[in-house]
Amino acid sequence: MTTTQQARAGAGTRPAVEIIGVRKQFAGRSRRAPARLALDGFDLTVAPGEFLCLLGPSGCGKSTLLNMLAGFSHPDGGEVLVDERPVTGPGPDRGVLFQTPMLFPWLSVLDNVLYGPRARHELDAETRGRAVELLETVGLGDARDAYPHELSGGMRHRAAFARVLVNRPRLLLMDEPFGALDAITRVAMQRFLLDLWQRDRITIVFVTHDVEEAALLGDRVCVMSGSPGRTRAVIDIDLPRPRGIADTETLEFVRLKRQIREALDNEH
Ligand SMILES: Nc1ncnc2c1ncn2[C@@H]1O[C@H](COP(=O)(O)OP(=O)(O)O)[C@@H](O)[C@H]1O
Ligand SMILES: [Mg+2]
Repeated sequence: MTTTQQARAGAGTRPAVEIIGVRKQFAGRSRRAPARLALDGFDLTVAPGEFLCLLGPSGCGKSTLLNMLAGFSHPDGGEVLVDERPVTGPGPDRGVLFQTPMLFPWLSVLDNVLYGPRARHELDAETRGRAVELLETVGLGDARDAYPHELSGGMRHRAAFARVLVNRPRLLLMDEPFGALDAITRVAMQRFLLDLWQRDRITIVFVTHDVEEAALLGDRVCVMSGSPGRTRAVIDIDLPRPRGIADTETLEFVRLKRQIREALDNEH
């Protein structure tokens, strides 16, 4: 069974994410500027363990959606549910990763990873052990006493991963996380993310504007149109797992990329 089929089989049970008829409006920048409707009537369901990519042009509302799932902002209409409960605010059950890795420059890598549990008064020996283990998993076992400025871009990303994963999130929300990396580091991070997902099967909502990245990573790609943001098409990526960069050269991959690109182009 492919992962898409598994995701569909899981869809009959409890969805991990449900976005139902969501509307989000932002006030104009000045008093006279009109309000801006960022999203309207937006629907999306994500199955447990699914890797879903959100793809769309700049300004179509991808970050707005992710911020509502993270609990940083709230819809003006409709519902945003995670594990069948309305999102009311941020929580450690949802790990958020941005383009710029969020690390405190004055804390060592290990202390960055332990920051969340410590702030929630949950720092015990077991959590500390898990943090050390996670740093090994992300290849930073030898860098745990280093400070963020001593790390390369890719290492910083992996430290930010460990910082999120130590909370054992049920949902990973990633907003163009590899957008600022050089091509070689980006491929390494994509491979790292796929290995991690293959192992733990955390539900992932991954925002990107890169067609190839969406097709390589996702079980499904939700192609969005903008002004206001809506679902343009949802495309199943029925390619076998595990996937790697070599798969991007197959005919099937090229066909899927074309299908995604056509859905994007239809919008204009
Ligand atoms: N805090 C905000 N205040 C005003 N307008 C916003 C705010 N956040 C987003 N917008 C507007 O909402 C639309 C969607 O933005 P965003 O979700 O950031 O798009 P994307 O992430 O797809 O590039 C854009 O027109 C943007 O200008
Ligand atoms: Mg964005």
